[in-house]
Amino acid sequence: MEPEVTTQEQPHHNPVDESSVPLPPNADREPAQLPGTETAGAGQLGYTGRPLPVFPEPPPLTAHGPARIIAMCNQKGGVGKTTTTINLGAALAEVGRRVLLVDFDPQGALSVGLGVRANELDVTIYNLLVERGHDVREVIQHTATENLDVIPANIDLSAAEVQLVGEVAREQILARVLRPVVDDYDVIMIDCQPSLGLLTVNALTAAHGVIIPLECEFFAMRGVALLVETIDKITDRLNPRLQVDGILATMFDSRTLHSKEVVRSVVDHFKEQVFHTVISRTVKFPDATLAAEPITTYASTHGAAAAYRQLARELIARGGAA
Ligand SMILES: Nc1ncnc2c1ncn2[C@@H]1O[C@H](COP(=O)(O)OP(=O)(O)O)[C@@H](O)[C@H]1O
Ligand SMILES: [Mg+2]
Repeated sequence: MEPEVTTQEQPHHNPVDESSVPLPPNADREPAQLPGTETAGAGQLGYTGRPLPVFPEPPPLTAHGPARIIAMCNQKGGVGKTTTTINLGAALAEVGRRVLLVDFDPQGALSVGLGVRANELDVTIYNLLVERGHDVREVIQHTATENLDVIPANIDLSAAEVQLVGEVAREQILARVLRPVVDDYDVIMIDCQPSLGLLTVNALTAAHGVIIPLECEFFAMRGVALLVETIDKITDRLNPRLQVDGILATMFDSRTLHSKEVVRSVVDHFKEQVFHTVISRTVKFPDATLAAEPITTYASTHGAAAAYRQLARELIARGGAA
């Protein structure tokens, strides 16, 4: 099944002559610190143009669970959902949080990115959704990263949407699947597929929070209104506890005014909902995916790893994770 990607069109050229755009205050000034560096803060401007707070090192947890469930959601493909699920998950695991990642995209990129050969598996999230009698614990796999587990998916999942349509309480099936292990984890993160179909509705119904990654590109915000409307409907009808944990700017290029303009308009529109942490564009991410490792181990000292560590601290500081 082709993922439903409605907002993929890109302009062939930049219609705006960047040199003619008046600079906003500080737009020409690089933040003095890369996001994620320990000395950030102290009134310095982050990439979002706001003073970058210091996010404290999270205290170790003395007890674990019940998990807060977060859906990583944007119906546009290629915005960094899977990359963020893996790397935010790994950064949370690094600070001692017990993390379960749920691959909820039939493409299985999350599973592959964590070194799971999902195509060779007989039992995946698909079977948990459509068949009775499976134990979720038997489907969970440990990854090479301590504290980081995954429920894999493969192309089988593409059939689930159609099969579940006739089920009773069809929006609550994932919540039911996860219930037996909620107490085993501190965070459960669901990597959604690029659509607003029944699988994504299941993820949003199971979740306490949703993180929306936005690529720093033209039309980044196109489609977000529809996503927010969907979230509102689910909050209204199915899951009153659901909240937007944050909007994450990804694939930011500090050398282009264009990236800065996109972040600025996202912050203008969504204000404090936008994470201070911004994820830069770097080839380290596709490289880490090829190596089937999170960035925090693949390139532990790189700024890209520091950024996801900062995002983990920011999420915890906001109450989005224990
Ligand atoms: N910050 C980044 N810089 C460079 N490439 C990235 C970045 N984040 C993701 N990518 C790459 O972009 C592609 C799409 O990212 P992905 O996380 O799979 O998006 P989604 O899950 O939203 O479809 C992948 O090849 C990934 O490696
Ligand atoms: Mg993905």
